[in-house]
Amino acid sequence: MLTKKSRIKDVYANPIGRDIINRMLLQMNINRKAVTNPIVGNLKIMVLPKLLKNQLDEGFVDTLLTLLNTEDETVRSTDEIIPREWWKEAVFYQIYPRSFKDSNGDGIGDLQGIISKLDYIKELGIDAIWLSPIYDSPNDDNGYDIRDYHKIMSDFGTMEDFDKLLTEIHNRGMRLIMDLVVNHTSDEHKWYQQAIHEPDSKYGDYYIFKPQPNNWTSFFSGSAWNYVEERNQYALHLFSKKQMDLNWENEALRHEIHDMVKWWLEKGVDGFRLDVINYISKRKGLPDGNKSIGKLMGYYGVEHYFYGPSLHDYLHELKEKVFMPYNAFSVGETPGAGMEMSKLLTADYRKELDMVFSFDHLETPGHTRYDDYQYDLNYLKSCMVNWMENYGNHCQPSLFYENHDNPRMISKINANQKYRYVLGKLLAVIQLTLRGTPFIYQGQELGMINQCFKTISEIRDVESLNLYDELCNTMKEEEAFSKILTGSRDHARTPMQWSGEQYAGFSTVKPWIMMDEDYKSCNAKLQLQDENSILRFFQKLIALRKEYKVIYYGNVIVSNKKVKDLFTYYRKDENEALYIEINLSTTNKKRTKHPKGRLLLSNYTEDILSSKDRLSFLRPYEANIWAIYP
Ligand code: NOJ
Repeated sequence: MLTKKSRIKDVYANPIGRDIINRMLLQMNINRKAVTNPIVGNLKIMVLPKLLKNQLDEGFVDTLLTLLNTEDETVRSTDEIIPREWWKEAVFYQIYPRSFKDSNGDGIGDLQGIISKLDYIKELGIDAIWLSPIYDSPNDDNGYDIRDYHKIMSDFGTMEDFDKLLTEIHNRGMRLIMDLVVNHTSDEHKWYQQAIHEPDSKYGDYYIFKPQPNNWTSFFSGSAWNYVEERNQYALHLFSKKQMDLNWENEALRHEIHDMVKWWLEKGVDGFRLDVINYISKRKGLPDGNKSIGKLMGYYGVEHYFYGPSLHDYLHELKEKVFMPYNAFSVGETPGAGMEMSKLLTADYRKELDMVFSFDHLETPGHTRYDDYQYDLNYLKSCMVNWMENYGNHCQPSLFYENHDNPRMISKINANQKYRYVLGKLLAVIQLTLRGTPFIYQGQELGMINQCFKTISEIRDVESLNLYDELCNTMKEEEAFSKILTGSRDHARTPMQWSGEQYAGFSTVKPWIMMDEDYKSCNAKLQLQDENSILRFFQKLIALRKEYKVIYYGNVIVSNKKVKDLFTYYRKDENEALYIEINLSTTNKKRTKHPKGRLLLSNYTEDILSSKDRLSFLRPYEANIWAIYP
């Protein structure tokens, strides 16, 4: 049991303690050494707020202790052989259905549209598709607000279309995972309607109601509570006002969810991506959030539900009762969970989730998504090295930079068009040659970048719109708009750029969301005709990944760890060895070693060995993969 008198090093030795302190340091842009050096390690935990530049108050220590004392397990470390699984070898492709392909000319992507592009996906080398929500929804948050789990959203088609899609995916030897959104439902879901109209029925306790709100804030601005006149109570919504949090403490509710999931598994889907799944268990009594944590993180209350007391139990139950009998795959979206928590959620012998998406690598220290800054690739290197070296053989890392919630990665790193494709290919090399399961987001394979939204009327995303309204209270409209523009999720939601035709071959009519002119020069049709395009590069890289199986389970040995702007590593097993060398900067970078072996793939198309200089330098953002002798 840790107390206020415990030493900082003991707290840091606790898995949860380490994750939380690391998260705080990241947010404050303070180096880890500030707490890991031995002198500091021997200090009592009480001094932590002071050490962290007084940005945290005393209450922080209490909150930290509550969290720490609920978990003292660590994941076994092991050198055992990594058990083989299809999802450890697969390359996933995420489809955001609204923006992928419109087949019926209404400006909205749909299931038939996806079916028409399955050959494209297969040719890319994809093994499994993750489909963002396609269930019936009033679309307050583009389908992440589900009204009926057993119906298809009419914009997207019918259940027959879905069955056909699943068959066609399986016919091509690919798999399908669905998005499972069960932290909340739409306020139009019949359970919620019954909960407010018949509070005494079994549904009355399916959601989280309280006589008075606490200070928790919503991720989409404002209080996390709606006043519900019918019950004269407040109902919790961590996301939009129409996304009501379910009460997982209620066993009957959990069983309904289990049955619903089984229903989809009976149809033959291969697994799920579980939306904000680490938020499902809330601390009893729903206490107020600590103010200093709230201020620092931008949201009040997170510490009471991002790693809640029953989370492991709920996940374990779901795995044993529902996923295991169907051999279904699960990847959890777990914002805020650091590496140690991720281990506890995914270690194979613990039987909870197969994998998680952790997000700490998406912004550099001290930054959030809405900050306008240039992402330093050295930070990506440090994150990757850490995960490769410390995640262990019981857990499988996920490898991704983009999804429907984040601006495009190329734009974050360097908006200079001159580097666009070389950089996109560099990112692909890292993503597809490290150990882990890659998730490619639609359009990433084309090197799609952020779009030029010109006015707030072009923005569709509820998160951005709410934030804009909030910001307008304290700043000018232009300033608020420019802030929105930096982090808006809409950058990733503009239509897939299929061709240079009007509306990018996505639709025959004006799409539901704007698109600028980028598609004229950046589109799948053109890139398929160009051997050196980024799309072709992705195809080659995925094929290479399948050929050199060392990438799946082989060791990752990083060299030049301390050399800035240089990311080099070996992938090795007893049969094969690869050497990957990457220049993370826009200037020539001196090689520390010239690889002996065969160059398999490079993001520069000219022959790397043609000039003498090339032997000693890597060009800006150059990334090469070599086969060397094992
Ligand atoms: C995470 C999803 O990825 C995001 O798009 C959504 O808005 C929230 N969860 C709420 O469901």
